[in-house]
Amino acid sequence: MKILAIESSCDDTASAIVEDGREVLSSVIASQVPEHILYGGVVPEIASRRHCESVSGVVKKALEEAKLSLDDIDAIACTYAPGLIGALLVGVNFAKGLSYSKKLPLIPVHHLRSHIASNYITHIQLEPPFLALVVSGGHTHLINVRSYTDYEIIGRTRDDAAGEALDKAARTLGLPYPGGLNMDRVCKDGDADAYKFPFPKVSGSELDFSFSGLKTAVINLVHNLNQKGENIDIENIGASYMKCVVNCLCDRTMRAIDKTGINNLVLAGGVSANSVLRREMTRLADEKGIELYFPELKYCGDNAAMVGSQAYYEYKNGSIASLKLNATAALDIDKNLTM
Ligand code: KG4
Ligand code: ZN
Repeated sequence: MKILAIESSCDDTASAIVEDGREVLSSVIASQVPEHILYGGVVPEIASRRHCESVSGVVKKALEEAKLSLDDIDAIACTYAPGLIGALLVGVNFAKGLSYSKKLPLIPVHHLRSHIASNYITHIQLEPPFLALVVSGGHTHLINVRSYTDYEIIGRTRDDAAGEALDKAARTLGLPYPGGLNMDRVCKDGDADAYKFPFPKVSGSELDFSFSGLKTAVINLVHNLNQKGENIDIENIGASYMKCVVNCLCDRTMRAIDKTGINNLVLAGGVSANSVLRREMTRLADEKGIELYFPELKYCGDNAAMVGSQAYYEYKNGSIASLKLNATAALDIDKNLTM
């Protein structure tokens, strides 16, 4: 089954064609980074406009790269939640148009489900059940993935997402958008013990995260250094900060492994590209005998191949939308769409 997928939840307009959930026949991404870089972050209104301009060209290119026409496609999939509402609407409406005109099933895909599915195209033998740490710009979740379409959130951030905490700290250090990515590039070889940041405590649940205190700590540190006219040691501050964020992610994830007894661990989302996180999780997994999976770097950030992969399993589970499908800005991964 060949699925044409569209992703437009944030600042990437993407389309891909994926066969039977695992084989990527094409994957095209139009990035908006050069434009948002001017503002230090994603400007939602600009993102929506650029999606409108790019979406048909990106879909056309995905078909060309796969050497297919719309007549060869069996279903259309799109990201419908969660994300920037204006951005999501562009992909959803384009997908509806294609589905209507070609009389093809329309498959709605949850963005975080698709991030997890980026591992299905990287590791073609991987199957649920497993534990997933989903770390993106807007979400930080520990999820018990019981099946391809059945999820239980067992830990989540109480405030900022890990990606957001990295992006804000990077901005404070004067690094360009996307901050997390640039902090990784610039600071990965810095001295991670040069600065001490507080390890966040979260009362109530040992599997929840909190990053807002850490973010405030780095902002205060940089302001104090600025006020004293001292040098801002970007490389070492960034390295120490990343170490602390990664330690929090690893600490909660290892607790979740111990608590659930699940021995297969999957990383997903934009932050799963982080070199410090990949290294530290690999070390811990080796130490504890855990099977660890993370997506190929090109599938860590937003892309449509992961949407096409997850769509296959949603379709097999009977999740087909009518033309009444709407975009939704916020929706937990364990909720199913009422169509
Ligand atoms: O999944 P994603 O592409 O979009 C969302 O769904 O939010 O994640 C974007 C986030 C941003 O916060 C970005 O700074 C972060 O992923 N990111 C990274 C790296 N690459 C992207 N953070 C740390 N290290 C990286 N190498
Ligand atoms: Zn994402």
